[in-house]
Amino acid sequence: MIWTVTFNPSRDMTFVLDGPLEPGSIQVACSIYARSGGKGNNVARVVRRLGQPVGAVGFYGGATGELVGSGLQEQGIEVLGEPIAGETRICLTIVGSGGSEITEIREKGPPVPPAAAERLLRRLLERVQREDWVTLSGSLPPELPASVWADWVRALNPRCRGVLVDTGAENLRAAISARPLVMVPNRDEWRASGLSVTDSVVVTEGANGVTCYPTPGVVRRLRPPKVAVANTVGAGDAFLGGMVDGLSRGESWERALVWAVAVAAASVTSPGVADVDPLLAQSLVPQVVVE
Ligand SMILES: Nc1ncnc2c1ncn2[C@@H]1O[C@H](COP(=O)(O)OP(=O)(O)OP(=O)(O)O)[C@@H](O)[C@H]1O
Ligand SMILES: [Mg+2]
Repeated sequence: MIWTVTFNPSRDMTFVLDGPLEPGSIQVACSIYARSGGKGNNVARVVRRLGQPVGAVGFYGGATGELVGSGLQEQGIEVLGEPIAGETRICLTIVGSGGSEITEIREKGPPVPPAAAERLLRRLLERVQREDWVTLSGSLPPELPASVWADWVRALNPRCRGVLVDTGAENLRAAISARPLVMVPNRDEWRASGLSVTDSVVVTEGANGVTCYPTPGVVRRLRPPKVAVANTVGAGDAFLGGMVDGLSRGESWERALVWAVAVAAASVTSPGVADVDPLLAQSLVPQVVVE
């Protein structure tokens, strides 16, 4: 089982325009997608599409929280949700000009009291099995301190096969002290963290692929296949989903990385967010270049 933790879930709406976004005007969307989002929930959808059992862990509030939870369950994802006061947030993505222009508008999300985080962690620890994997993704809602990252990694590390982390700079700094198996920030997040390279970081660099540091002094790059881009939002989540899918099937580190790059490349060809066709991902594997 793969558990994907989303501290700050959202109902994500994507409005696709057939031309550029024109601020100050009224425009009609040519298509609209709604989905259960927040970074970890994107990972959950990817992992499920790749055929694995997955549990989505997070905080849910109000009617929007229920929609997010039921949306996940409809896709065969188990939900381990801690109820909170307030309303789960809505995030809006506007895709213009055939995918080349993306505008994101995000709500901050309802506050989550630290006691609710402790309750949810306890519930997850009751469920997680030794052969399971856990991903921790995204931002923190208001009121949760960055130390939550280290607390969760430290508690989960001895109880599962590995904890994988994808988050922003301050949270990376908090998480690294507890030694997650791997962190997969994008280049901006990694730079902002000010941390120095380790074998437990894989930096994603958009269309340039990923860079990792398997042993001291060695830099390895993986180049993605060239694909027709429809929407790059959630490529990092697709990457993490591919990585944890590969590792949980017992693949080597390198094969899991190649698979993750293929999965992420497949995801950007779809106008949906982190929407992966597993057969397309398979077909892209031979085109991933390991330098
Ligand atoms: N245009 C592209 N073509 C092929 N692969 C891509 C492209 N953009 C991204 N990818 C793949 O997806 C991975 C993650 O992308 P990126 O570094 O943009 O993540 P991110 O900024 O965390 O994205 P998000 O937070 O929206 O999920 C890249 O390392 C690469 O392998
Ligand atoms: Mg990301």
